[in-house]
Amino acid sequence: MVGGLGFTLSLSKGGVSRSNAIPASKILAVNPSVGCRVAKPNINHNMKSTLIRLEDISKVYGTGNTAVHALNHVNLTVDDGEYCSIMGASGSGKSTTMNVIGCLDRPSDGRYYLDNQDISQLPNEQLAEIRNRKIGFVFQQFHLLSHLTALDNVMLPMIYAGVSVDERKERAVTALEKMGLGSRLHNQPNQLSGGQQQRVAIARAIVNNPRLLLADEPTGALDSRTVREVLDIFQELHDDGITVVMVTHEVEVARESKRIVWFRDGEVIYSHLTPEEMLEVAVKA
Ligand SMILES: Nc1ncnc2c1ncn2[C@@H]1O[C@H](COP(=O)(O)OP(=O)(O)OP(=O)(O)O)[C@@H](O)[C@H]1O
Ligand SMILES: [Mg+2]
Repeated sequence: MVGGLGFTLSLSKGGVSRSNAIPASKILAVNPSVGCRVAKPNINHNMKSTLIRLEDISKVYGTGNTAVHALNHVNLTVDDGEYCSIMGASGSGKSTTMNVIGCLDRPSDGRYYLDNQDISQLPNEQLAEIRNRKIGFVFQQFHLLSHLTALDNVMLPMIYAGVSVDERKERAVTALEKMGLGSRLHNQPNQLSGGQQQRVAIARAIVNNPRLLLADEPTGALDSRTVREVLDIFQELHDDGITVVMVTHEVEVARESKRIVWFRDGEVIYSHLTPEEMLEVAVKA
């Protein structure tokens, strides 16, 4: 057990009045070197297929005295169709993990299986092809190309995927309409609100019909009403069967997913927290 807090949590949402202690079954051991509990490797008890499997992944930036050990022996699995949030303090390795999962960066050590394919050793071109076909990205700062319209931004990933220009346009319009932006097709990013820009970014992320949506602090730059819009979109995408992995610092955002993974100092401390358990950990963090 993490230990009962012995006080009442009153929350604005969901009516949780008291935190539940984290079951001992979720905790493997106390790691003496870091003085904290280590998450059990995931065991797949239901017959769902695993989409993401990180095995003993480490990531070191730089060398010698300046080396930064961003990830230390991370083991993590995410099932096909899951919606999970990643939390943890600044610098704990969340974005580094997302970059590895998204094939934007390579681990220094360990193996990464995406859809049962070992992609740790693949050449860059194959990695880029997998990224384009299977993965959509959403970032805090949107990362839209400022000189392109919303439509052109969303059409872009399909150029790399070799889709014909007519189909590119048709699919981009459909994706933007799905995001409620049918009347903003020809606006450039600086003519759109933050929430609208994020919805363009989500349209771009899903236009190639990815299996996996990776979102790194997608609501960090948005006001609360727009946060709700974006979270509703993620929920719909999850309902459509897309696997969603989202990094967030906000407990109210993380609560939207059923599962929360908690990082500390480059390690997965908890791999399967419920929203209620996450609140308990967040209070202590
Ligand atoms: N390109 C890089 N070169 C050197 N060190 C890096 C690099 N990228 C990240 N780091 C370091 O690796 C560690 C993990 O960084 P990471 O960006 O994954 O943290 P994070 O959990 O996403 O933090 P935040 O919540 O602030 O976004 C940090 O100590 C960071 O300074
Ligand atoms: Mg980060």
